[in-house]
Amino acid sequence: MASRSDQTILVTGGAGYIGAHTAQQLRTRGYDVVVVDRLSNGACPAALVEPLVRADLQDATALDAVFQAHDIAAVIHFAASIEVGESLRQPLAYFANNVGGSLALLQAMQRHSVRALVFSSTAAVYGNQELEIIPETAALAPCNPYGASKAMAEQILAEQAKVGAVNAIALRYFNASGAAPELGLGERHQTETHLIPLVIQAALGQREQVSIFGSDYPTPDGTCLRDYIHVMDLAEAHILALEALLSGQHPGFAAYNLGTGQGYSVRQIIEAVRQVAGQDFQVLEAERRAGDPARLIADPSAAQAALGWQAQHSGLERIVSDAYRFFQQMFEPWPR
Ligand SMILES: NC(=O)c1ccc[n+]([C@@H]2O[C@H](COP(=O)([O-])OP(=O)(O)OC[C@H]3O[C@@H](n4cnc5c(N)ncnc54)[C@H](O)[C@@H]3O)[C@@H](O)[C@H]2O)c1
Repeated sequence: MASRSDQTILVTGGAGYIGAHTAQQLRTRGYDVVVVDRLSNGACPAALVEPLVRADLQDATALDAVFQAHDIAAVIHFAASIEVGESLRQPLAYFANNVGGSLALLQAMQRHSVRALVFSSTAAVYGNQELEIIPETAALAPCNPYGASKAMAEQILAEQAKVGAVNAIALRYFNASGAAPELGLGERHQTETHLIPLVIQAALGQREQVSIFGSDYPTPDGTCLRDYIHVMDLAEAHILALEALLSGQHPGFAAYNLGTGQGYSVRQIIEAVRQVAGQDFQVLEAERRAGDPARLIADPSAAQAALGWQAQHSGLERIVSDAYRFFQQMFEPWPR
């Protein structure tokens, strides 16, 4: 593969779950990577690769120093607050960090004439849709401040693109999942809210039980359906998006879904973890949570057509067994 060592990519949130996998893949492809992360949500030791600037995106002085010290060709922007439930309790904090942080980053990019941006968006921008499979043309109707903050950031990118200030691709991930245990990378947030890690923790005896929030949804087994996408597939999509921008083949702004087109229910995930772990554990049936759509399943065909991207690692058994192996390795809490 041709060396990319003449190109430096700024990865915000690059010590986090998806950012760390993407940064590692970028390095493997020969890119130089600079990470800016405030390290607020836990990080794997393997994610703490220099150069890593511990700073908040809204620290303009720190961002200017990064752009001055490195010849940044493009930015991949993961840094955000990510918990739907917390966003319902603290909406201002979510708009401040996710919209405010994106604005601060765009302003810094403009000051330093950097025009290419790949943005972490989310299926949460769609909210509750009647559609079985969601294409990018579906109306955005976020049903929580987290999703709304991402939809606003997308709108800002689209407006900046219209005036030629940026070329940007927003990637709307469905449920990021899986791990790269062989690299020491995986998902283990300070406060875990994602289903697969929670179920694995129950299987490993690290938590007493796992809860199903709502078993009366209009779905085949009554529990919510989600489209799980392996984090290494997400990393690959970011690199393809980045290369489309750097090659000049993708001017303006566009948003693409990243998913498989296949939904799994909460009960199916619990069963998959039971199979992989060979371990039973306690499951509680609880009330629905506010802001949880019954189904979120991607139509991923636009990303395939525009970027040549297709999920390669996202079979459920692979996702669960990679995540499980990562958790087995990382039994002890990480140092902060
Ligand atoms: N995990 C998912 O299922 C999922 C799904 C859709 C979209 N996303 C998006 O993907 C991105 C990455 O998610 P993740 O799961 O890796 O989360 P994560 O919490 O593991 O990583 C985010 C990182 O951003 C950093 N960060 C947050 N705010 C910052 C700020 N103001 N300045 C500097 N650093 C900051 C945190 O310290 C953290 O390391 C987020 O934008 C999230 O909204 C995630």
